[in-house]
Amino acid sequence: MIQNHPPLFQCIDAGTENCPCSLAVSGNCLTCSRLAGKDCGDCDWPGVCIYNEFMQNGQKIKSSREEMLVPIVEKKSYGDDTIRFILDVGKGLAAKCFMPGSYLMIRSRELSEYYNAPISVMFADLEKGHVHVLIKAISFKTKQLAEETEHLYIKGPYKNGLLGLASLKAPQSQSFLIVAKGIGLSPAIKMAQYLKSRRQIRLLADPAQVDRQLLADYSLNQEAETTLVDLMESQDLELLRQEISTSRHSAVCLFTSDYFLSAIGEMVKELCPAADIVTANNFNICCGEGVCGACSVAGEKGETIKMCKCQLAGKDLLRRKVVWE
Ligand code: FES
Repeated sequence: MIQNHPPLFQCIDAGTENCPCSLAVSGNCLTCSRLAGKDCGDCDWPGVCIYNEFMQNGQKIKSSREEMLVPIVEKKSYGDDTIRFILDVGKGLAAKCFMPGSYLMIRSRELSEYYNAPISVMFADLEKGHVHVLIKAISFKTKQLAEETEHLYIKGPYKNGLLGLASLKAPQSQSFLIVAKGIGLSPAIKMAQYLKSRRQIRLLADPAQVDRQLLADYSLNQEAETTLVDLMESQDLELLRQEISTSRHSAVCLFTSDYFLSAIGEMVKELCPAADIVTANNFNICCGEGVCGACSVAGEKGETIKMCKCQLAGKDLLRRKVVWE
């Protein structure tokens, strides 16, 4: 029996080259009910049968992400604690990092995998086979990364760095408002690279501690109609309210801290309820593979949702353990 209701979430890796993964092997698949110890009556997956793929593949993981030591092509500072690395990852991996929401596990050469830090891909240079990442050196892992000058270990890409990704491909989504603060400029640049020349983009950028030169280096003014704002200032919040209520964007992308994500998300729901919402995935990502449980939150019915793998629809986004609607 196939259920008619849409699933609450979709595993970001379902049906990709990374599926079936270790969760299938251990009987904890997020998508295939049979590979989670139930029967097919619970299946609402519209793609190629994951159970069949698993059996055809000898009940093994299809393709795990491998760690690579890659050269640092360029390192540049954008403020006291913000560093941009350009990494030579090869054209194949750069192409896999093109989609917004892609991120890499990155660590310093001196440290073990335990010290992997999930870092968003800011820009994928498909011709050169480079990816650009922006790091804010705020604690042990990221401060160690900031010291590196020659090589870094990377693993990935992982795909669930943004929530609400379905609206990027929806044909009715023609106009995007992006609100980005501080390090959130990194996914904003990736989004602009993906959407440019196909969709209309309006960007309200609050660089905070990040050097504004970053916006110029990625020509954000050309990719999007850009206004610099300070989200701590009431007149700029009023500008944002005006933009949301009058421009009727089809989707609003929020690349900010949880505080602004919640405050601006409520604003969108009130002033432009038809708009989809895309947000940075601010949950605590550790393994990125659905294994460690660091990112788990409880859904409305008490079900466990692993935020490193589960792609929620824009209107179902969770803010920590709270469902917005
Ligand atoms: S980060 Fe480990 S399960 Fe999600």
